[in-house]
Formats: sequence, structure tokens, C-alpha cells
Amino acid sequence: MPRYSITTFGCQMNVHDSERMHDVLRRAGYTEAGGPEEADVLVLNTCSVREKAEQKLRSEVGRLARWKRERTDRVVVVAGCVAQQEGERLLKQMRAIDVVVGPDNIPELPGLLGDLALGGLPVARTVFDLDAPRFLVASPSSSSRAAPTAFVTIMKGCDERCSFCIVPHTRGPERYRSSDEIVAEIAGLVAAGTREVTLLGQTVNSYRDPLGALPRAPGASADDPDESEFAALLRRVAADVPGLARLRYTSPHPRHLTPSLVLAHAELAVLPRHVHMPVQSGSDRVLRRMIRRYTRAEYVARTRALVEAVPGLTLSTDIIVGFSGETEDDFAATLSLVREVGFKGLFGFKYSRRPHTPALKLPDDVPEGVKGERLSRLFEASEALLAAHLSGLVGTTQAVLVEGRDKERGAGGARGQGGALWSGRTGRHEIAHIEGAAELDRLGDVVEVSIARANKHSLQAELTEAARAAARPRQRGGAEPGPARRSLPVVAAEGG
Ligand code: 5AD
Repeated sequence: MPRYSITTFGCQMNVHDSERMHDVLRRAGYTEAGGPEEADVLVLNTCSVREKAEQKLRSEVGRLARWKRERTDRVVVVAGCVAQQEGERLLKQMRAIDVVVGPDNIPELPGLLGDLALGGLPVARTVFDLDAPRFLVASPSSSSRAAPTAFVTIMKGCDERCSFCIVPHTRGPERYRSSDEIVAEIAGLVAAGTREVTLLGQTVNSYRDPLGALPRAPGASADDPDESEFAALLRRVAADVPGLARLRYTSPHPRHLTPSLVLAHAELAVLPRHVHMPVQSGSDRVLRRMIRRYTRAEYVARTRALVEAVPGLTLSTDIIVGFSGETEDDFAATLSLVREVGFKGLFGFKYSRRPHTPALKLPDDVPEGVKGERLSRLFEASEALLAAHLSGLVGTTQAVLVEGRDKERGAGGARGQGGALWSGRTGRHEIAHIEGAAELDRLGDVVEVSIARANKHSLQAELTEAARAAARPRQRGGAEPGPARRSLPVVAAEGG
């Protein structure tokens, strides 16, 4: 039986696509190899959003030429955004590549590999499914129990034209999944043990139900061009899947942060108190050149409305430094915005010119050294905000969704006395390491912890007495293994 291995670069959408590729390949009779060395088929799921990500692919394929020479029947597949962007050209440029497959062509992968095995020539399939968009769903049989957290795609593609961004080119126009399908997938995941779902889409909150089946959400305006049906979808998921503990989404566009979405956050307990809202720049001049279609003041007003409606809600963001024409004053405006909004998390990037983007017409005129220096100043500001935020949480009680076991030397360097060291996320998405929690034996529990210390990027926590007490009887009584059962106190509403 042929064995495959998948290496993933890039965003959560790519992580999700890789999971679907696992499914498609397993169903076609492939088995997963222990690693690339043992594989017959190696899939590189690529990212092209920044130049650095694309360079990674090129150096990886360079190394693979040797891997292929070891056995002539080995196959290299390039999937993802570089595949979509370059198509056939990749086959010509890099002889080690056998199959190029775009994000919308994942179901065709086994067929393409089959043709190749029969002596077919290297092939590229990069066709968008515009007429009948497909959204691949994890097959329930692929694993007996679901992970505590899962991604569910609700839309793909992007109709924005941000001048720096290659995504409209690599992922095509916006296509939406029906609300029935979305709810069914989430309900299936929750029945199998998933507690937290992250709705995925390139501009996730521009969602519209192709069935037209959603009632208008409270607060939604009929004549606001920025209004979507995203809030209506959130309400339907909350109502139809009551067993879901947390419902996150990524990545939204500030334009669609309308009053209906703010109201949904205020009213739905399942929405955690954290939103990632990419802003890209704090300068109106730069925002205009980026074609972001909002001003700094609009971004501030919209996020402020959200924080006022949901006290304690935290925001994180994406920022590009050194975009075409960015002056020191423009960058100072970005720094001041970061402080004004008080982001508790920030992904910062140096602008890199991408093929097929509108900004190719603009000069890439900020020197590399200046970009680097601005990025360091940006991180300095955001680290300070995060440090103050995390240390402010010491002594509070938080609800943590247990997502994994820390390695032998857990983050923060300290291991708990109880041996096991687990980690998870608070409702606001802070990473929490739980010490001395031998009682805890299940992924997917939402447990109450008290915060003992703040690390640089995470929290060190201990189970509260109540959580410990609730765990004990199960230990004595011979707990049944298996993550689907939960007897620790499940915190319904997010605390702290
Ligand atoms: N250069 C640098 N950063 C970019 N991003 C997108 N395109 C570019 C580019 N050409 C960043 C944006 C986006 C994140 C996913 O990647 O900040 O939100």
C-alpha cells in the first residue's frame, strides 16, 4: 500500500486543506507514513501570501530532488496557493515535481496519482470550482474520536482587492457554503467530542447563505452594503448546536464588523471574548493605498463598539510594515493605533511584493533595513501590551479548554508536581499551561483554573479546588478512559 506524507506551510485554511487531503488519500487506500523519509508520495501544501513562504517551497523542492533519486517511483505533489498561482510553470521550473494540485482540486488527487503510476506525465490541475463549489468535510470514520478543537470552512475565496494581497488570485472569488451543511458538520463534530469550532474563510464575516434560509439577524440593516449574514449564521449555530462550548472565527474583515455582529457577540455566550481583526496599518494614507476600504477612525469605532458590548473582550490583529510609500509618520500612526486599541496579540509582517497584486504598480520603496527596524519596534509595543495583560490575569480564575499535553519540559520551564502538564486556551485565547493536574485525564474538558504566573506569551495555571474535587471521585471510582466523556465541571459561560 503506498504511503504518503503531507508537509503544511501557511495559514489555518492550509492546515484545514491538509486534513482534507489526509482524508482523500486514506479513502483512496493510501496510508500515512511515519515521516517524509518513509513516504512514497510527499505532498507539500504551500503558501504564497508572503515571498518568504514561497521561498520555503523552492528550497524544500531543492532538497527533495535527492529524496527522489533514492527511489525512482517516489512522487512529489505541490498543493496549495503556490500550486494555484504557478500551475504548469512549476512543472517546468522544478523537475522534481510530479503533480501540481490547486485547493479546489483536492478530490482529484488520487486520480492524478493513479494516472502517474500508470506511466502518465507530470500534471497540473488548478481549476476553481466556480459553478458548483465543493467544501470537503472530514469523514467521520477517519478518526474514532474528534479532536477538542476543529476548523469548519464556511466560505472560500475573496472579493476584496487589498492591493498587497495575492489571495484573490490563489483562492478565487467568494463562494459560500450552505448554512445547513455548516450546521450539520458542526453538529457531527460536537457529537464526536469536539468542543470548540473555528469557522474559516478568507473574509469569514462576509458570509451569505446560498440557501437564503437565514432569518435577518437582530441589528442587521437592509441597506448597509457592509452587512452580511454572518451574525445570522452565528445565531443559527448557537441555537442548533447547544453542545458546542466555543465558537471562534477567522479571519474577518473590519468592513463587516457591523452592529449585527456586535449584537451577536453581546448575546451569544458561545462566542468567546476574543476576536482577531486584521487592521494592516494605522495610517489612513496607507490604508487607502492598500485598498482596505475603511479608515482608522472607522476601525477604532467598530472595535470599540465590540469591546463596549462585551466587556473584557480582547483583540488581536495583523499588521504590514513598510508598505509602498509608508513614511515614518505613517508608521508612527500604526504604533499609536496599536496602543490606542490595546491589541493583546499581533502578527507583524514586512511588506513583500506579490505577483498578480494591484500593488505591483506601486514602488516597493521602503528599504529592507527600515522594514526590519519598524517590525522590531512594532513587536516591542505589542509585547509590552501582552505582558501587562497577562500579568494582570495572575490571581484570576479562568475557564480553560484542555487541548493537549505539554512536552516533558513544558513551556515556562516548570513541570507541575502532579506530573502531568496540560495546556489549553482560555476563552480569550490566552495559552494556559496547567500544572500539577494529574487528575486531569481528558482532552476536551473545559476546566476552571486559577492563574499562578504569567510567562512571556502564556499563562501558568493550576486547577481550582472545585475542579480538583470534581475530578477526584472519578479517579477513585475507576474512570473510564476516552475523551468523549467529561466529568470535570464544564463551565457553561466563560469566566474571568
Ligand atoms: N506582504 C506582507 N504581508 C502580507 N500579508 C498579506 N499579504 C502580504 C504581503 N504581500 C499579511 C497580512 C495578512 C496576513 C495573513 O498576511 O497582514 O493579514
